[in-house]
Amino acid sequence: MAKDNVLVEVNNLTKYFPIGSGGFLRKKVTELKAVDGVTFAVHHGETLGLVGESGSGKTTVGKCVLQLHRPTSGEVSFKGKNLVDLTDKQLRPFRPKLQVIFQDPYESLNPRFTAYDIITEPLRLHHATKTECRNRVKELLDIVGLAPYMAERYPHEFSGGQRQRLGVARALALQPEFIVCDEPLSALDVSIQAQVLNLLDDLQRQFGVAYLFISHDLSVVRHISHRVAVMYLGKIMEIAPRDALYDRPLHPYTQALLSAVPVPDPKV
Ligand SMILES: Nc1ncnc2c1ncn2[C@@H]1O[C@H](COP(=O)(O)OP(=O)(O)OP(=O)(O)O)[C@@H](O)[C@H]1O
Ligand SMILES: [Mg+2]
Repeated sequence: MAKDNVLVEVNNLTKYFPIGSGGFLRKKVTELKAVDGVTFAVHHGETLGLVGESGSGKTTVGKCVLQLHRPTSGEVSFKGKNLVDLTDKQLRPFRPKLQVIFQDPYESLNPRFTAYDIITEPLRLHHATKTECRNRVKELLDIVGLAPYMAERYPHEFSGGQRQRLGVARALALQPEFIVCDEPLSALDVSIQAQVLNLLDDLQRQFGVAYLFISHDLSVVRHISHRVAVMYLGKIMEIAPRDALYDRPLHPYTQALLSAVPVPDPKV
C-alpha cells in the first residue's frame, strides 16, 4: 500500500518493565522486555490483526500506540506526528481520534454514570449541545444495537455483551480514526460475537476507521483483518496480508500457531 496512506506508523518500539529480583536486600533490578523492537504500520481504513500467545506483548503494544503506556524507546506516529515526543497536554487534541475497546469495559465505566452520561461525556468535553447529545446517543445506541431506553441504565444493569456495546458506542462518540480493539469479543457469547464483528466491519466501511485488532482467536482475526502480525516474546515474527499468512505461513512459530487451530469450513 502507498506510504501516503499510512495512518499509524510504529518504529522500533520497545517497552521494558522493571522487575525486582525478590529479596529486599538485593537491590539489583532487571527488566522484562514486554515489547522488544516492534515495527509496523496501519493504513487508513485498514484492520491489522495482532495475534500471539498470552504474555507475548499484544496489549502492551496497543497501550504504547495510544500512549496509555509511554514507550521505553521507539516512535509512534499518527498522521506523521510522533506522539512519543508529546506531553500529556499536547496529546489531548489527538485523544478523540485514537480510541480503545477492551474485553470488558466494566472497569473503565463510571458506575455512578448512566449509559447516557457515559456516551455523552466525551461529547460534552467537546462542547456538544443538549440536542446534539440526545440525537447522538440515540444514533449510537442504534448503531451498536442497544434499545433507546437503556440510556437511563447504569453499567451494572447491563449484561457483559450489552456493556461491550456500550463501550463501542462510547469509543465511537467522537468519530475516531483509529481504534485499538483488545480482545473485544472474548467475553461475549458466540452468537453475539458475530454481530459485534459485523458491527465493527460496518463501522469501518461507513466511517473509514482503522483497527488494530488484538486477539488470540485466529479465526476471528482471519475474518476481520486485511493484514495480520504475529507476536512472540515481545517481537513480531511475521507480518503479511491475511490470506498469504494463513495459506502460506513462513515463520515456524506462525505455522505452529496455525496448526493448533481447527480449520473452519469455508462452506459454513
Ligand atoms: N504494567 C506492567 N508491569 C509489569 N509487567 C507488565 C505490565 N503489563 C504487562 N506486563 C508484562 O508484559 C508482558 C506482556 O504482557 P501483555 O499484557 O502485553 O501480553 P498479551 O500478549 O496482551 O497477553 P494476553 O493475551 O494474556 O492478554 C507479560 O509478561 C506481562 O506480565
Ligand atoms: Mg492482552
